[in-house]
Amino acid sequence: MQIKLWVNGVEQEWHVAPNETLLAALRRHGYYGVKDGGCQHGECGACAVLLDGIPTNTCVMLAAQADGHRIETIEGMGKHPDLGWRKTEGLHPIQQALVESGAIQCGYCTPAIALAAKSLLDRNPNPTEDEVREAISGVLCRCTGYLKPVQAILRAAAMMRGEEVPPIEGEVETLAFPTDWPGSGEDATTAKPGSESSPLVRTQVMPRIWTVMRPERQAMQRVGKPEIKVDAVKLVQGKPAFAADIEMRGMLIAKVLHSPVAHARIKRIDVSKARALPGVAAVLTYKDIPRVPYSTAGQSDPIPGPLDTFSLDEKVRFVGDRVAFVAAETEEIAEQALKLIEVEYEPLPAILDPEDALKEGAPIIHDEPDYVNFAESDPKRNLAAQIRIDIGDVEKGFQEADRIYEAEYEVPKVQQSHIEPHVVVTYWDEDDRLVIRTSTQVPFHVRRILAPVLGLPIKRIRVIKPRIGGGFGGKQEVLIEDVAAHLTIATGRPVMYVYTREEEFTAARSRHPMRIRMKTGVKLDGTITANAMYVLSDTGAYGCHGLTVTGNTGHKAMALYVGDGEYRKAPNIRFYADVVYTNKPPSGAYRGYGVPQGFWAVERHMERIARDLGLDPIAFRLKNAIRAGELHPFSTAWSEGREPRPEIIHTVGLEECVAQGKAVIGWDQKYGNPEWHQVPGKPHLRRGIGVAMVMQGTAIPYLDMGGASIKMNDDGSFNLMVGATDLGTGSDTVLAQMAAEVLGVPVEDIIVYSSDTDFTPFDKGAYASSTTYISGAAVVKAAQQAAERIRIRAAKMLNNRGNGHGEVKPEEIRLADRKAVAPDGRFVTMEEIALNSLHHADQEQIMGIGSYVSPVAPPPFAAQFAEVTVDIETGAVTVDRLVMAVDSGVIVNPITASGQIEGGMTQALGYAVCEELKYDEQGRPREKDWLNYHIFRANEMPKLETIFVETFEPSHPFGVKAVAEIPMDGVAPAVANAVLDACGADILDNPLTPEKVWRALRRK
Ligand code: FES
Ligand code: FES
Repeated sequence: MQIKLWVNGVEQEWHVAPNETLLAALRRHGYYGVKDGGCQHGECGACAVLLDGIPTNTCVMLAAQADGHRIETIEGMGKHPDLGWRKTEGLHPIQQALVESGAIQCGYCTPAIALAAKSLLDRNPNPTEDEVREAISGVLCRCTGYLKPVQAILRAAAMMRGEEVPPIEGEVETLAFPTDWPGSGEDATTAKPGSESSPLVRTQVMPRIWTVMRPERQAMQRVGKPEIKVDAVKLVQGKPAFAADIEMRGMLIAKVLHSPVAHARIKRIDVSKARALPGVAAVLTYKDIPRVPYSTAGQSDPIPGPLDTFSLDEKVRFVGDRVAFVAAETEEIAEQALKLIEVEYEPLPAILDPEDALKEGAPIIHDEPDYVNFAESDPKRNLAAQIRIDIGDVEKGFQEADRIYEAEYEVPKVQQSHIEPHVVVTYWDEDDRLVIRTSTQVPFHVRRILAPVLGLPIKRIRVIKPRIGGGFGGKQEVLIEDVAAHLTIATGRPVMYVYTREEEFTAARSRHPMRIRMKTGVKLDGTITANAMYVLSDTGAYGCHGLTVTGNTGHKAMALYVGDGEYRKAPNIRFYADVVYTNKPPSGAYRGYGVPQGFWAVERHMERIARDLGLDPIAFRLKNAIRAGELHPFSTAWSEGREPRPEIIHTVGLEECVAQGKAVIGWDQKYGNPEWHQVPGKPHLRRGIGVAMVMQGTAIPYLDMGGASIKMNDDGSFNLMVGATDLGTGSDTVLAQMAAEVLGVPVEDIIVYSSDTDFTPFDKGAYASSTTYISGAAVVKAAQQAAERIRIRAAKMLNNRGNGHGEVKPEEIRLADRKAVAPDGRFVTMEEIALNSLHHADQEQIMGIGSYVSPVAPPPFAAQFAEVTVDIETGAVTVDRLVMAVDSGVIVNPITASGQIEGGMTQALGYAVCEELKYDEQGRPREKDWLNYHIFRANEMPKLETIFVETFEPSHPFGVKAVAEIPMDGVAPAVANAVLDACGADILDNPLTPEKVWRALRRK
């Protein structure tokens, strides 16, 4: 069909197929700013454009329907202001505000949010916050928690009305600990709130920061500043930055036939009709490719789990498992071919409940002879892994207790729901090397793990990681790269494979569901004498991350409460776990990595114990919580990677987190105040307030390795190459800030490239909250090497100039403001040094390379507070406010770090009240889309507040600890504790659906 339309004001004539969606047609014509969320039903809004000024989802509209209409895409909004000799009008104020306000994380939703905002502001130049939230409520964002996008739009509205807006920088509220606070360190000095050194002007996008004003912290130029994300300008223009934003001549589209049954052998498979379909280039079954057992878990070598997966197998183990791969000229042909594949299944009994997996005589899910055992796995018992850890003398501890509290808790399977689906493109390059362009968190692990699966040596594989539209652990899996790679090997042609949203829900990874039994011995004064946890963890059909995720459930959640007095010196802790196979989709890595499950049980349990003993729930927790200078109790018992070694925890800001969080939420005025619990004029409503305390880890000691290299350019700028993987977190930016700090240049002079296995140094990838800490330390080392060369050359240049001055030594030179400055004030600029080194004298490439492995994993700590309103007639829970006070060490970038907390709390809110994947008695999934699986929208959000309590972690050059995962850990128990406080409903299994609360109230 021939259609005529106006795109960004330009008249166009397009040939489109009658069944082609507007989304497909726009992307085919190069409008890659129109994103595909894979939902196909108009649920996510990522594909929205303005159609005659109205936000319209293009995946649910045919291109033909756009005939005669005006379309605006992000490409038409604004451009980089400086394109060489051609100056542009610059970014649109909405784009500018999104960039400045830290509203862009992965950026996948950003074009649609910007367009929705434009539509609103074109109609209503002075909207309220509620109107902004309503206007963007059609666009799902899984990263930000919407706080910063909403603030950015209000800021843009003010800019467009011609009002002055204060710059974001300089609005951070920096206060100081009291000097007697134990975490503040001996050399700490203080600045009083409201003094000249702590300006109090704030905007809504900046977190509140309490910091130890140590001299090294105060001296930092770039670390600690709300620098703009290095990729923000690119993302806000909708540039073709993501894995799917690529066209290649002759590229085929891949599709996978998924199993409709939970457990079966493939008795017969006939692909002849599919192969014969015109336009089909390849159809592959288990008969066509080598049988190589591997693990899809993107982890370091050796993989800490069983090798129990095959690219294709003659057995299927869950509804959604792989049966055959197809590559065809178009998506429609590939889908048609799937329907022509004939499969006869021999059904096998399925295990759908983890309790059944360990029963005598249970069907064996992994009976294949080539299964490669890992230490504690036993496929004959459906056991993917087993953990048995005893610290101290637990039984003696129970005997010494006045009371023993036992209870069982349960946590559901939930989904990462990154808005960009899994995407991979594979092709042979001109050297017959296989290139894999993929949306992965772990490019180096992808290369290493796939090499044997594909029959290629590692050196003939190149993995490129472009921008990633969110991952949250879901892309720490070598999930679909092999599909496209096998098809490229089979056809010799480029292949693209993009998961649909249904595939994301049914065939990708998810959070491990667990049943958790707690047994705790307590003295009447609240001293914990022994604490035990048993976990039954459901890894689904494959083992992947089963051992390490479940290990973390105990390693982090059971480490927080060590007891008090004598027990503090020698805690009694037990952590046992069985990780079992079932015929459900495999569980995997999801932000928090087992820890949210553990803290659901621990923090619900602690609350119930405190209330039963009549103790203040906060004082009871702090009495037993681990303190600075104490040994991590698990450090001598278990490690994710290597042999466990004793590890002292040097910084614990938990008490100050509690103090700050309490003050902000008004705990003392609300907790235990019967008047506050009532809602005036609404007798069916009750208010409640709850708390949870949590800790995480920072990387995996003696295992996680990050590398970085840096080189100086002719103009004194630097290329920073890192294998670390920014999946929207802002890690490229904080790494650039650290390099800029060492080299004395602005962040704009650091050009970051991440990551490509051919060009960037090795990095284990983005997981375990490790990038800022591990990769950051590698960047600092690389930058220090380069800085040393710069100082030597600068000294030589200054001494050659002489002019009667004394000799300057390299170590006396300070790098700042793009200059190398001698103590007497003389200086040479970075540009002069660069030109001198590359062109003029004793030429050399100034560069540095660094890598880092940590001997410790310093935990961040946090206090999470929640305020709720419960409808005691319907059981509906409304979360009104979440306040999180976090000790993540020094905050490198307050705006990106608080974005992590806000986004993490929002995902955790879903875990608390609404997210859950369920299966019927045949193992068929109930949730296959965002219509049935609810994630929070902008107009449904509670108030979010972030407080950072800075400590200075001595094991890192800039004192940092992890920030990205900890916000997942405490929201669900804090909300449940608040519901208990509000109405007495004591829910032991999340999410807190209205039905559960209603039933609990009826029981009461
Ligand atoms: S709404 Fe169109 S891709 Fe999700
Ligand atoms: S920034 Fe919104 S989905 Fe990632």
